[in-house]
Amino acid sequence: MTKRKGIILAGGSGTRLYPVTMGISKQLLPIYDKPMIYYPLSVLMLTGIREVAVITTPDDQSQFKRLLGDGSQWGMSLTFIEQPKPEGLAQAYILAEDFLDGAPSAMVLGDNIFFGHGLTEILANADAITNGGVVFGYQVSDPERYGVVGFDENGQVTEIIEKPDVPASNYAVTGLYFLDSSASEKAKRVKPSPRGELEITTLLEMYLNEGALKVNKMRRGYAWLDTGTHGSLLDAGNFVRTLEKRQGLQVGSPDEIAYQQGWMSRSDIEERSKVFNKNDYGKNLDRLIKERK
Ligand code: G1P
Repeated sequence: MTKRKGIILAGGSGTRLYPVTMGISKQLLPIYDKPMIYYPLSVLMLTGIREVAVITTPDDQSQFKRLLGDGSQWGMSLTFIEQPKPEGLAQAYILAEDFLDGAPSAMVLGDNIFFGHGLTEILANADAITNGGVVFGYQVSDPERYGVVGFDENGQVTEIIEKPDVPASNYAVTGLYFLDSSASEKAKRVKPSPRGELEITTLLEMYLNEGALKVNKMRRGYAWLDTGTHGSLLDAGNFVRTLEKRQGLQVGSPDEIAYQQGWMSRSDIEERSKVFNKNDYGKNLDRLIKERK
C-alpha cells in the first residue's frame, strides 16, 4: 500500500473578499496569528501526511513558496502545482496526478479550518480506509452555500448536490476529502457543470454510485469555520484568539505538530523557536521543549 499523500487546494480568485484579496491570495490572509493555510496544513500533518502538494494560481505561487519553503523545516516535502484557472475542485486531482503517482490522498481546501478534541482520531479512522472515499458532513444553518448531503429514511446517503436552491438536509460536505487512488482517473470523467467547473460533488457522486463513499458526520464539539466572507473571517480569527488566550496553547501550529509527530528533533525545534521569539507562537515551542525534558 502506497502511503497517502496530501493536497491543499489554495487557488481561486477570492472575489467575495475583494478588495482584501486583490493584492494577496485568500489563503495567505491571517486567521488571528497565522496565515490561513497553516490550519488546513495542520490537519494533513495530524493525519500523519508528510508529502503534500500545494495547488495555487500561477501568480500566487511565489508567495506560498516564500511562506512554506520546501517543507524540510518540518521534516516534510512540499510540492507546488499551478492551477492556471479556477476550473473546479475536482480538477485538483487531474493536476496532481503525477504527484500522487497512484497513492490515495487527503485533499483539504486551503480556506477550511477545523478544530476539535478528538480530531486526530477522526482523521486516523478516515486514513485507515484505502478503498473508496470518506468525507465529512457538518450541520450548518446555511447549507445552500455548500455541497449538501441528502439522506434516505434509513440515514443512507442518497445524493450530494452542489449549492442546491432547496437543500435536502442541513449537512454540508466539508472541504476535506479522503479519496482512494482512483480519484484522478475519475476526475477526468467529470463533465463541467453549468458554471463551467469540475465540481467536487460530481466526483463524490461517482464514488457514491459505486457504493464506495462514506459520509462521516462531524458532530457537536467540532468547529468547522467559514472564512468566505469578511465577517466570518474575523469571527474565525476571534475564535482562534479566544482559545489560544484562554488555554495558552496554539491552534494550527505546524511546528508543534511536526515536533509531536517526531519529524523534528529537539535541536530543530530549538532553532525554529528562535525565529518566533517575539511572540506566542515561539513561546509555545519553548514550552513544548521544556515539557519534554
Ligand atoms: C466548495 C465545494 C463545496 C464544499 C465547500 C466546503 O465550495 O464546492 O462542495 O461544501 O467547498 O468549503 P466553495 O467554498 O468553493 O464555494
